[in-house]
Amino acid sequence: MTAQIVIAPDGITRAAAALADGQLVALPTETVYGLGAKALDARACASIFEAKGRPLSDPLIVHLPDSGWLERLAVPDSISLALAEAFWPGPLTLVLPKSPVVPDVATAGQPTVAVRVSSHPVFSSTIQALGEPIAAPSANRFGRISPTSAAHVFEELGDRIPLILDGGECLHGIESTIVMVRDRKLTILRPGPITRRQLEAFAGVAEADKGVAVPGHMKSHYAPATKVIFDPAGSRRERCGLLAWNRPEEGYAACEVLSMSGDSIEAATRLYGAMRRLDALALDAIVAQLPPAGGLGEAIADRLKKAAG
Ligand code: TXA
Ligand code: MG
Repeated sequence: MTAQIVIAPDGITRAAAALADGQLVALPTETVYGLGAKALDARACASIFEAKGRPLSDPLIVHLPDSGWLERLAVPDSISLALAEAFWPGPLTLVLPKSPVVPDVATAGQPTVAVRVSSHPVFSSTIQALGEPIAAPSANRFGRISPTSAAHVFEELGDRIPLILDGGECLHGIESTIVMVRDRKLTILRPGPITRRQLEAFAGVAEADKGVAVPGHMKSHYAPATKVIFDPAGSRRERCGLLAWNRPEEGYAACEVLSMSGDSIEAATRLYGAMRRLDALALDAIVAQLPPAGGLGEAIADRLKKAAG
């Protein structure tokens, strides 16, 4: 199989028809590209796991056509409703008790479902045309870097899926923030574009305690094939690539600067593409510099540590 790439907006009708037919379609969201299938169709959801090589124990995010669907698929508490009102459509995923209509395969047999509404105009038009929820994890092979362009998706899954809807580069470049409300407090399960500070306006934010089993949140994730390290001591720099925060350094085989002005939003947008370019050089290691705390710094540091395994 070789994936066909269709360009939005013309390709939207085709993509929606393929989804309606139970097929897999990769499509853009404002965070990263997703590998979509009809969420309420267990067979279609199962084929996502197969194409990604993803363990069935790792649940999917269900994207809703609009927030009106929230109460059809989940049982939201008042804090989650307020968060949905404030941040949807947008890069916030809520983990909530699920309703029986959500197939168990989508939630990996858990009693909760992760839901969000994407703000990407191409995603939005596609899901409107389909008229029902789309389950979509990031459109990469399991454990690898999330794709932020149609070309990245083709590299990852070009031989495993029939269709890629090209809507250009993703705006945020890193995956949505995932939160769960427990005992009237928020737990951030995955840091992302919606920051801790933005969430604190709605409820106390608890530290993600190690006790909660967060499926799929294993330590090694988002990983390039080249090993990622933080300390260059002991490595031959001329055989390493530098993933620099805000300024280039001499002596490396290659250097990618995430943001010359140290802007964490720009850095997040560039992160996965820069990792991919350095990975393609097949060097001994990628030396990564951690961003300063604040803003998206937390989310970027989280991804870099997971890439380092
Ligand atoms: O920005 C995003 O969230 C992208 C775009 C495509 O929407 N999606 C994405 O999906 O990053 P994925 O599958 O790569 O990551 C979703 C994470 C997984 O680590 C999964 O374990 C977690 O969400 N998750 C899903 N359902 C969950 C649940 N019921 N409880 C806890 N974690 C859950
Ligand atoms: Mg992923």
